Amino acid sequence: MDHFIYKDGSLFAEDVPVAEIAAQVGTPFYLYSTATLVRHFRLFDEALSWGPHLVCYAMKAASNQAILRTLAQEGAGMDVVSGGEYARAIAAGVPGERIVFSGVGKTHEEIKAALTGGIRQFNVESEPEMRVISEVATSLGVVAPITVRVNPDVDAKTHAKIATGKSENKFGIPIARAREVYAEAAALPGLKVVGIDVHIGSQLTQLEPFQQAYQKVADLTEALRADGHEITRLDLGGGLGIPYARSNEAPPLPTDYGAMVKDTLGHLGCEIEIEPGRLIAGNSGIMVSKVIYVKNGEGRDFLILDGAMNDLIRPAMYEAHHEIIPVQEAEPGVELTPYDIVGPVCETGDTFAKGRLMPPLAAGDLVAFRSAGAYGAVMASEYNTRPLIPEVLVKDDQFSVIRPRPTFDEMINRDNVPEWL
Ligand code: LLP
Repeated sequence: MDHFIYKDGSLFAEDVPVAEIAAQVGTPFYLYSTATLVRHFRLFDEALSWGPHLVCYAMKAASNQAILRTLAQEGAGMDVVSGGEYARAIAAGVPGERIVFSGVGKTHEEIKAALTGGIRQFNVESEPEMRVISEVATSLGVVAPITVRVNPDVDAKTHAKIATGKSENKFGIPIARAREVYAEAAALPGLKVVGIDVHIGSQLTQLEPFQQAYQKVADLTEALRADGHEITRLDLGGGLGIPYARSNEAPPLPTDYGAMVKDTLGHLGCEIEIEPGRLIAGNSGIMVSKVIYVKNGEGRDFLILDGAMNDLIRPAMYEAHHEIIPVQEAEPGVELTPYDIVGPVCETGDTFAKGRLMPPLAAGDLVAFRSAGAYGAVMASEYNTRPLIPEVLVKDDQFSVIRPRPTFDEMINRDNVPEWL
C-alpha cells in the first residue's frame, strides 16, 4: 500500500496534487511519500517485535538525507556499503551503534572512518578484509565488532544480476568454511565476533529461499556456539520483493517474513537485524515525467518522455517492469492504446516499455512511474549531460524539494580545464 492515489481524477501524493508539484518543480522529478516510507519501516519493525531486533535500512535503495532522517526519527538503523554512505548516515543523525557496514570491498580508509566515528558491526566478506579490519582496529587501539557474511549457496530465484547467495557469486564466505574463518577471527587481535550475516539477493518474491538460508544460519549458530563463539546477533540481510505490476502474484508481506524468521531462528535467543531497502523505499516513490512528443512510427506509436534511462535505469538494466500511469486519470471506459514508451537518450536501450497499453496521451501530459523510490534516483547519471533530476518529499499537504536540479553551469563548472588549454 502506498499514498499515491487518484482523487477526483488527478494523482495525489498524500494530500498534494502531483500536477501542482510538476508545475512548480518542472519535470522529470522523483517524488517520495513520507507516510509510505514510515509505514513500510513500521511494518518490518512490528513483524520482528516478538524479540530484540534492529531494522537497518539499506540506504543504497534511496539515500537522500531527508529520507534517511525520516527513517532515523522512527528509530531505524542503517546498512551502509561505502564511506560515502557511512558519512550520509552520520550526517542524518544516525548514531554509530545503529550502523552496520556491508560490502565486499571495504577499504582501509573506510574501515578507519567507521571505527573512528562509531560502528555497530562490520559484516566481513572475506578473510583478507577481516585481517585488514583487525590491523586497523589494533592500530587505533579499539575493538571492531564483526559478523562474517556467509554464502549459503541458495538460489534466491530472482534476476541473475541481483542474486547474491549462490556459490558462484562474489559475496560472503562459503558456509562450509565458516567454522575455520570464525576460528581465525577469534584468534586475531582487535576483533570481537558478535554474530553471523547473510544476504541472498534482492527482489525475492518467495519466502522459501530465505528460509533455506536462515535454516543454514541456525545450524551454523549452534555449531559456532559449540566451538566457543558468542553469537548474539543474526543479520539476515534484505531482499524482500515488492509487486511491480498489479497483475503479478503478490510477494510475501513483512508480517509473513517476520513469522518465518521467528519459526526458523527465534529459539536461538539472538538479536535479529535485517537490511531491507526496496520494500521500504520502492513503493514510497514515483518518477514523474512529461510527454514531449507522440511520434507515429511504423506499426507503433512512441511516447517520447522527458525522463530517460539515465534518470531511471532499471528497465534498461534489468528489463524491469514499472507501472506507468497518467497523472490525469483516464475517463472510465476509454479505449487503451499500445505505446512504446521511451526517453530522449541516444540509445535504443532507452526504452521504458514496449506496447504498453495506456489511455491516449498527448504532448504535455504527465505520467508517473510507480515503484520508482528504490534504486531510482541513486542509480541516476548525467549521461547525455542531462542534469540529475530533483527529488521532492511530501508530508501530508506539504512538499519540499529535497535535492534541486543542478543548472547546466553547475554541471559544467565541476570540470577543470588544464591551464595548457
Ligand atoms: N543488504 C545487502 C548486503 C545488499 O547487498 C542489499 C542489496 C540489501 C541489503 C538491500 O536489498 P533490498 O531489500 O533492497 O532488496 N539495483 C538493483 C538492486 C540491487 C540490490 C543490491 N543489494 C535493482 O534496481 O533491482
